[in-house]
Amino acid sequence: MSDRMLNKVVIITGGASGIGEGMVQRFCAEGARVVLADVDTKNGRRVSARCGALFQEHDVSSETSWQSLEDTIRQDYGQLDALLNNAGIVSNQSIADVDVATWNRLMSVNLTGMMLGCQTGITLMRENSSGNGGAIVNTASSTSYLAIPSDVAYTTSKAGVVGLTKSVAVFCATERLNIRVNSIHPGATLTNILKTALGETPSLEAALNRMSPMGRLGTVEEVAAMALFLASDEATFCTGGQFPVEGGTVSEHPRMV
Ligand SMILES: NC(=O)c1ccc[n+]([C@@H]2O[C@H](COP(=O)([O-])OP(=O)(O)OC[C@H]3O[C@@H](n4cnc5c(N)ncnc54)[C@H](O)[C@@H]3O)[C@@H](O)[C@H]2O)c1
Repeated sequence: MSDRMLNKVVIITGGASGIGEGMVQRFCAEGARVVLADVDTKNGRRVSARCGALFQEHDVSSETSWQSLEDTIRQDYGQLDALLNNAGIVSNQSIADVDVATWNRLMSVNLTGMMLGCQTGITLMRENSSGNGGAIVNTASSTSYLAIPSDVAYTTSKAGVVGLTKSVAVFCATERLNIRVNSIHPGATLTNILKTALGETPSLEAALNRMSPMGRLGTVEEVAAMALFLASDEATFCTGGQFPVEGGTVSEHPRMV
């Protein structure tokens, strides 16, 4: 690792497991001062202790919770350089059986939570000294482009992340805030949850591997590497973009055999 984020202050939501955990590990290894914000206190504390991050219990769907995180950053760090809006949930309900409570809950985490994150991020990054600005990276999905019919709310929310990201990015650019905003689009990624499922259902692994022309799942390290590039000073002309990490999944026409 090469200190690409040395002394930068970074919030990572949903950092207690999966892709977010990979992000916390990589950003800490690159010298960042990471605040891991998650509803899962047990795993949040575990990952923070292992990687050297600060853990703050945080519900992305709550305005009060964002205000409290904003206060922590201002008081304890005095700057925010990057925000990774990564927390997300699934619902596993199709249009035939989705109920409004489930739909609203998912949207409140996957979309409203991300919008609130962008507001907080912009507020704090505007206060950075001499217009240093910052970077926001929103975790979307290959599902932003390819529908999962068995999860209508998730599919809709991840398509929504694209619009949210572009709107906020263009706002920040035209206001000359020096704040860049991009979305990343993982395909099926080998998280711990998925590893457990694969262990129990070997046939699932073959099916998931077939989803990408590269014939395999992605890793959390590969997704974290893309987030790192976008959050770093190497991506200073990237904003409003959609960055795939999915082995070519959305490039492929449905196979004929
Ligand atoms: N794993 C994949 O194959 C995949 C593919 C594409 C996109 N994604 C996206 O990547 C992101 C991370 O997913 P993951 O696969 O690592 O799942 P995960 O379940 O391992 O991690 C999600 C994290 O978000 C946290 N979280 C949930 N609700 C929250 C809330 N209200 N406030 C704060 N934290 C909350 C959870 O506690 C958990 O730590 C999600 O946005 C997901 O949609 C995942």
